[in-house]
Amino acid sequence: MIVCQCQSISDHDIRAAVAWMRAADARTIITPGKIYHALGKRADCGGCMPLFLDTMRAHDSFEVPMNLRGLRRATDTGTSDEGRQEGYRVSERGAAV
Ligand code: FES
Repeated sequence: MIVCQCQSISDHDIRAAVAWMRAADARTIITPGKIYHALGKRADCGGCMPLFLDTMRAHDSFEVPMNLRGLRRATDTGTSDEGRQEGYRVSERGAAV
């Protein structure tokens, strides 16, 4: 079945790409962009993304490796300062001479 009409990518192509990526690197995070890249193509309209993602998720080896799960939670400190030092803005430093 053709999943991506713009690039003529079938569900078989997606499953083969997922299997190839997982076999090449068991720890890789598989994304639609990586699949397009592996197939030598680029997304065009993006209209296929819901079906593209469903096809990826249906593959047995699509799961995120256990040791890579929860990384965002582990590194999220709950601050919104993006790691900047306090008072980095010129307006917070007081009057400049
Ligand atoms: S249908 Fe896949 S990019 Fe357009």
